[in-house]
Amino acid sequence: MKNYPIWLLTLYLLLSCQPLIKEVQTAPLGVTAKNAMVVSAREEASKIGVAVMAQGGNAFDAMFATELALAVTFPYAGNLGGGGFMVYRLNNGTTGSLDYREMAPLAAEQDMYLDDMGQHDRKLSTLGAMAIGVPGTVKGIFEAHTQFGKLPVDQLIDPVIDLARNGYVVTAKQEERLNQYRDLIRETSGQQVLYAQTYKAGDTVKNPALASTLVRLREEGANAFYNGSMAEQMSQFIQTKGGIIKKEDFEQYRAYWRRPIRFSYQDLDIISMGPPSSGGLCLGQIMGMIAPYDLESLGHNTAAYVQHLTEAERRAYADRSHYLGDPDFVAIPTAQLLDSAYLRHRMSTFSPTKATESANMGYGEINFIESDETTHYSIVDPMGNAVSVTTTINGAYGSKLFDPELGFFYNNEMDDFSAKPGSPNMFGLIGGQANAIAPKKRMLSSMTPTIVERNGELWQVLGTPGGSTIITSVLQVILNTHHFKMTMQQAVNQPRFHHQWLPDLIQFEQEGFSEALMNSLKNQGHGIYQGEGRVIGKVDAIMRHSDGILEAGADPRGDDTAVGF
Ligand code: DON
Repeated sequence: MKNYPIWLLTLYLLLSCQPLIKEVQTAPLGVTAKNAMVVSAREEASKIGVAVMAQGGNAFDAMFATELALAVTFPYAGNLGGGGFMVYRLNNGTTGSLDYREMAPLAAEQDMYLDDMGQHDRKLSTLGAMAIGVPGTVKGIFEAHTQFGKLPVDQLIDPVIDLARNGYVVTAKQEERLNQYRDLIRETSGQQVLYAQTYKAGDTVKNPALASTLVRLREEGANAFYNGSMAEQMSQFIQTKGGIIKKEDFEQYRAYWRRPIRFSYQDLDIISMGPPSSGGLCLGQIMGMIAPYDLESLGHNTAAYVQHLTEAERRAYADRSHYLGDPDFVAIPTAQLLDSAYLRHRMSTFSPTKATESANMGYGEINFIESDETTHYSIVDPMGNAVSVTTTINGAYGSKLFDPELGFFYNNEMDDFSAKPGSPNMFGLIGGQANAIAPKKRMLSSMTPTIVERNGELWQVLGTPGGSTIITSVLQVILNTHHFKMTMQQAVNQPRFHHQWLPDLIQFEQEGFSEALMNSLKNQGHGIYQGEGRVIGKVDAIMRHSDGILEAGADPRGDDTAVGF
């Protein structure tokens, strides 16, 4: 491929229906590539990102284009109306992270989701205009591009504008999701909006309103969104729908470069997102707590293995709920939480054969929803730079409020705050004062975009959607490769389980765990939850093998696709 002119390669990538190197779902190895790779929730988005790199762009250019292409083709979670986190590692080993998480509006109040009886009004924090946090995605991608991008914005955005104008083809899984949420979208956004219509697999969805929005971004940059007429337009629209976001909220929004969380696990160095995401810290705590045990001898996904991970997860999520929030508002004892003596002490009550009981508070009434509404993509460029991004509008289609003039859904990220101490959010997570609502504060996240080094070299780029299960999904994929020597694709394919302190249950995917295993864990005193059709996470990952070949793990639980060259 290397001998073909770049324009021909680019044209091929844009026009071809297949990835350059075909995905082999059943084989132990995922898609492989020599130079560069994007793994994302949609084939079109992966192709656009890779085409950018084939034209000489780097991983940050590819991020810009991929993120926008997901906003067009994957309205379920891809977005302009949400936020996210990016962790990067440059080819010289420098690492960093960007926080473009949504923030609470200036007019937000701690009790804004409590009704007259002081009860948490879940509908208000999840559906419609009151649920929206000030979006950060546009600021985030422009900030990353300004700092590190090489190619001009026009070159990155034009193929995405074409995609919005000419349309993308609905997949079977998308049809199913749209059917599932259409009534709520109609209830919130009316019968007329784009996604209130019925689409079948194979239909083409064109979004001219979003194409025009992208043209405005191409002409005026992020300012169009945060300072210009679009800010005016969005705040008016949101207020008409009963929300409280004002033009000043957009004007005051900032994306922040933050120091990532970094910790070691045997010969691995793990770089992941810090607060306002709990992802990196929680992952570091869990890995610190399991480090003294010989997991390989326990065997992959045996009852003993599940027990060890579960008990570490229980303790880390309990700490999460008490200590973590927006670091610009609360002091977080990061070093202490990751301290090995502290973590050993946390595990001093651990028994390999008996469940520890989570705190003596009951667990709230929870609907376990199939939680994969966020989206993650992983990128490695030909220069060896790596970018790991998780982005979200929180629930499926966010607040379900679709802006017909601008062509996108707004998030319902405000539900990630702790609306009331002890009251679970949509993922059953419980928080306290550290994650209480305040103006301009960022809601605590579980998103865990992660990069793994082995012996100081780039080894993996990974992350996933899945709300509270994000952290434990990332954990299991790393352990699958590190301890059980799986390929990237194998590691991603494995069945997953999850514990988050409260509710005091181990959640299992429906497929892949035996009755005998469940019974053995029940006998140890564990609550078990295995919902019908339940999947945990949708991991999109890249592994660099020792010969330099990049291997993708594109999660078969979704339409996720790897493209490389
Ligand atoms: O930031 C968070 O942790 C959540 N808003 C992520 C939401 C998510 O992963 C959706 N899928 N379950």
